This record gives sequence, structure tokens and C-alpha cells, in this order.
Amino acid sequence: MNLKIIKYGDPVLREKAEPVAVVTDALRALAADMIETMHRSKGVGLAAEQVGRTEKLCVIDIPEGCENEEDEAFNAPIQMPLVLFNPEIVSQEGSQRDKEGCLSFPGVGGSITRAAQVVCQYLDENNMPQMITARGFLARAIQHELDHLNGILYVDHMSAVERLTFAPKLKRLAAANGGAR
Ligand code: NI
Repeated sequence: MNLKIIKYGDPVLREKAEPVAVVTDALRALAADMIETMHRSKGVGLAAEQVGRTEKLCVIDIPEGCENEEDEAFNAPIQMPLVLFNPEIVSQEGSQRDKEGCLSFPGVGGSITRAAQVVCQYLDENNMPQMITARGFLARAIQHELDHLNGILYVDHMSAVERLTFAPKLKRLAAANGGAR
């Protein structure tokens, strides 16, 4: 089922997600709907808050060709799409700076500095604890989605200059979606 994507301005985007005690059929169905919604919107990641939910859940699917060759080879053992319940970043290293976008911010895109590599632990759809090490674009996506689950939005990471550049757009977007910043 295609879900409505919540845009900047809606206060739910600032909520901190609640860890799930156990992954139920209902939560698996929610994850499947989120994957469908993400694919239809041509996104590479989606967090529960972006569909108006507060379970600690996000989905990620990086299409082929988004990574440089080295990172693609490094990330190759990680199966897509990723469904992450209760994800936590347990360690990170290095840094990378690149363009980033978000389905909740149509028409806004800035350059954000993120860790180059992250180790993420989570619960999979079968309630099994998992640990992955990701680099490059996938590492960026994991950090972006985990921020969502903590009520942090990628505009919070923008430089003052970029925020100023996008200020009129952000103001219009927020006003049209409930006014929360
Ligand atoms: Ni986002």
C-alpha cells in the first residue's frame, strides 16, 4: 500500500521514535508499505515519522550505481532492501561531504558532512539481531534515517549559508504542512 509522505512542517517529523519490543506481522506489513512508498517516490530511504508513525523503524534501498566502485564492493554483502528495527550506530569513522536529499523536503538539497563508515546494529524482520558495516552512500543513508528516528532533520546539518539559500523554500514548505520547524 502506498502511504502518504509527511512533509517538513508536520510536528511528527520532530518526534523521537519508540523502540519496538517485538517485530509483529503488523510491523512487517508497515515495513512492506514503507518500501513500496519509498520505491514509488524514487527515494533511497524512509523513516517511520515520514509516514506519520513513531515506531523505531526505517527502510533503505540503494540502487546499483549510486556508490563509487570501492564502496560498492565493500557494501556488496549487505542485502537490499534493508528493514531496520531499533537501529543504533555503534561506531563510526572518517568523514564525507556530499549532496543529500529527503522525501520530506521536495525541492531542497544541500551538502552535508557525514561519517564515511558506520557500524549499525538492528533487529531484522525475523527479530534477529544484526550488525552491518557500511560505507559511502549507504553509510550516509543510514545516518540520515537514524536522524529521522531521533527527530533530527537534514536541514539541521546544513551550513548557515545553505540554510539561508533555502530559507524561503523551507518557510513555504513548513507553512503548507503545519508550521513546525
Ligand atoms: Ni529524509
